[in-house]
Amino acid sequence: MKYGRIVGWGKCAPAKILTNFDLEKMVDTTDEWIRARTGIRQRHVASDGETTATMSAAAGRAALAQAGLEPKELDLIIVATSSPDYLVPAASSQVQDLLGAKCGAFQLGAGCTGFVYGLATAQAFISTGVHKNILVVGAETISRNVNWKDRETCVLFGDGAGAVIVQACDEPTGVLSFVLGSDGSGAEHLGVNIGAHAVMTPAALERGDHYLHMNGREVFKFATRVMGQAALEVINRAGMSLADIDLLIPHQANLRIIELAARHLNLPMDKVLVNIQNYGNTSAASIPIALVEAVEAGRIKEGDTLCLVGFGAGLTWAAAVVRWGVSERPFAMSSMFAPVRRVRDRAGVTLRMAQSQVAMQTLGARRALQKGTARAVEAVKSKASLALLPLYTRLDKRYTRNKRE
Ligand code: UT7
Repeated sequence: MKYGRIVGWGKCAPAKILTNFDLEKMVDTTDEWIRARTGIRQRHVASDGETTATMSAAAGRAALAQAGLEPKELDLIIVATSSPDYLVPAASSQVQDLLGAKCGAFQLGAGCTGFVYGLATAQAFISTGVHKNILVVGAETISRNVNWKDRETCVLFGDGAGAVIVQACDEPTGVLSFVLGSDGSGAEHLGVNIGAHAVMTPAALERGDHYLHMNGREVFKFATRVMGQAALEVINRAGMSLADIDLLIPHQANLRIIELAARHLNLPMDKVLVNIQNYGNTSAASIPIALVEAVEAGRIKEGDTLCLVGFGAGLTWAAAVVRWGVSERPFAMSSMFAPVRRVRDRAGVTLRMAQSQVAMQTLGARRALQKGTARAVEAVKSKASLALLPLYTRLDKRYTRNKRE
């Protein structure tokens, strides 16, 4: 089985920043309320011309450069988003074109959970040996679907993109386990009602159906329940315990949700990545942006074990245990695996010796066979000559007689 090593990473955040103080001038809110209830201080907002596709491509380019790969070396592009540039075509094909890649591409919709779904999907393609290099992006331009007059939602969200390159390798690394969950019965709590069931008519536009709506309290309750559960389940599936986790990277929706999850897991906050203060909730982009920031800040080292956990519209949730890089010690409990590796190495040597012995014996047998066949042919030939000798002699005598006459 192949593993998916994360060899490249990159992010893109729009230059335009909207602070809580800016929002105070737009809706009936205060910096104090936003910070106390969410932990957010500012968010990045896309300017004209910046979209999910362009930010994805920028993050993807940074990830490719980090990996030292050319776009044409990609085998697949997965873009997780709930705010694509268009309903059709998918943002993933725009990203493929913008990068100049020559591979398949598809868009993945699982709300804020999308990036973890994408990572698990990439791992599945890699582990079966189908693909070698996969770009996974989480990207959003939620600001375009937010009602800037609704204080209950507009203060929460931000735009951006994060990307990683997953590359096939033989060492146990990358996604070691994952958990994917969905409960569609909670769909009404978070969404944007545009689509085949909710056609965009002038009346729908008038009602503001195209704006993101959320039942904050319900989503809050759901989030605090699934975050800890999903994290524990995925760590268990990896055959690990919480003590093996070097860093928890949760979806950045609300600092209070993150703190509650950490408390539920009995995990100190210095083992939890928090960057919501600078970005707000960037939905599918939040986990990859946090991951990239953590790497850039030196908070993730070669061989570290990460737990990514997200939740969002659907309702969905997902978690993954990710081994960072390929260290000399493939697992946190490396001493446990040292004997396994020794046995594997010894078995490799024995196998190679057996192969060369078989090859030599085969060669010897072939030579012996060739010699034996040659000898047999010669024997048949000489027997045939002896058998034909009287005939030759008679023919020769007749020939000489005829010639004389
Ligand atoms: O990634 C997608 C997943 N989304 C989430 O995870 C969001 C989950 N939910 C939350 O994070 C929180 O529920 C919110 C941050 C959305 C809201 O926080 P809350 O502590 O649950 O507030 P609340 O909805 O209970 O509202 C408390 C009060 C209300 O006023 P009344 O009814 O008590 O008079 C709201 O109208 O706060 C009011 N309020 C605001 N006040 C100032 C709501 N939004 C604001 C605001 N500024 N921006």
